[in-house]
Amino acid sequence: MSLTTTKSEAWINRDKKVIAPCQHLSYYPLTVQKVEGEIIYDQDNNRFIDFLSSASSLNLGSGFPMITEALINQMKLYVQYTPAYIYNTPNIAYAERLTSVYPGGIQAKVCFGNCGSDANDAAIKFARAFTGRSKIITFINGYHGNTYGSMSLSAVTTRMRSKMGPFLPDIFSFPFYGDDLDNEVCQGECTREIERAFETYLPAEEVAAVIIEPVQGDAGLIPAHGIFMNKLHALCKKNGILFISEEVQQAFFRTGKWFAIEHYDIVPDGIILGKSVGGSLPLGAFMARGEIMDSLPAPAHLFTLGGHALACATGCAAFDYMQGADFQDILAKNENAMEDYLNEIMKKFPEFVTQKRGKGMSRGLVLTKQDQRTGEIVPDEIGTYKVLYRAYEKGLVMISLGKNVLRIQPPLNIKPENLKRGFEIIDEAIEEYLDEKISDEVLKYREGW
Ligand SMILES: Cc1ncc(COP(=O)(O)O)c(C=O)c1O
Repeated sequence: MSLTTTKSEAWINRDKKVIAPCQHLSYYPLTVQKVEGEIIYDQDNNRFIDFLSSASSLNLGSGFPMITEALINQMKLYVQYTPAYIYNTPNIAYAERLTSVYPGGIQAKVCFGNCGSDANDAAIKFARAFTGRSKIITFINGYHGNTYGSMSLSAVTTRMRSKMGPFLPDIFSFPFYGDDLDNEVCQGECTREIERAFETYLPAEEVAAVIIEPVQGDAGLIPAHGIFMNKLHALCKKNGILFISEEVQQAFFRTGKWFAIEHYDIVPDGIILGKSVGGSLPLGAFMARGEIMDSLPAPAHLFTLGGHALACATGCAAFDYMQGADFQDILAKNENAMEDYLNEIMKKFPEFVTQKRGKGMSRGLVLTKQDQRTGEIVPDEIGTYKVLYRAYEKGLVMISLGKNVLRIQPPLNIKPENLKRGFEIIDEAIEEYLDEKISDEVLKYREGW
């Protein structure tokens, strides 16, 4: 089967002449024409259900009416005026809302930026300034962004390392322990390396912060093991280290709660936000206890367009809607339906779909095969790509993470019939792959993670 993609491909040829290749991790020849809610149309008018939500930055889909209304209303007042020199009411109103849901009733303050990456940079700056310490602990397979600070925190692919060093010093990456690990093994192992580091080469009293994604996103949607999180948090408390939750991909109900850290019994010292924080417009934010946020003077972390009035206005609109009963009802129904669909697929293809991962509507399906030589169960990298490519041909936008994880993050308010159809497409694509109906020809488009 194949789609007509003539117009999309013509744009892609033009793209290749003028856009740096480092800006795309593309999986198929799709050039977007318009997006209505969770429906994407390409330049050739092909229609796709969106299971990517613009990398979890469109949690309410594209063009959600309340967001559009807020955007237009703010546009009529003023498009932007830098908060560096003149106070902005959308900024203030949104910070009031965000801090009102900070876990544990902590009195927090917000530092706005432009995106998730610079919000990670903010976390490094505030942690260092507040503690007077320089060292930061992060985790292997974490993705934190693409500014120099956030890249330095990331340890997910050498493609973000080669040719660009040196990086920020004093950043140490340790193994991450996911919730699929046995409790006993986790209890024994999970903080061992960090503790050994504290005894041998990394003085704990020089560590400013631990920055951790409670659900590692780009690693393949792996929730941290509860024991790991609690032991890590205890180590932080014991040594005066800030525990910072990196929520760029998982906040705003992606995992079913405002923040993914709320799945653990931990009140973080700081929270890093991006993606959906701007209600679909570019925005980033770091928030933490007031005393931490008061530790830096201006202009230590400000940007001319940071905390953009339009993005704060749309962020407020999305926030207000998400707090309401209508959204919470839709979310609960979609979460339940999604769980059922995931279970059905696991049940139908037990040897191929060997694990479901994640929380709420931030889910991954792990695809495996048996190695013909060793008999071992190994990632089915080619199969994963073929499945997502066939799904694309059938009208579903979905990508993969790691070698063999299907990333499933539809808009949280997706219509039930589109959620259902999306999973039907996944089911059909898997069946066709297992029946060897997807040719190697499709592999030529493979440029993703
Ligand atoms: C967990 C996490 N942190 C940070 C970022 C960087 O955000 P941005 O691309 O908006 O700068 C991402 C983006 O994928 C992410 O998933």
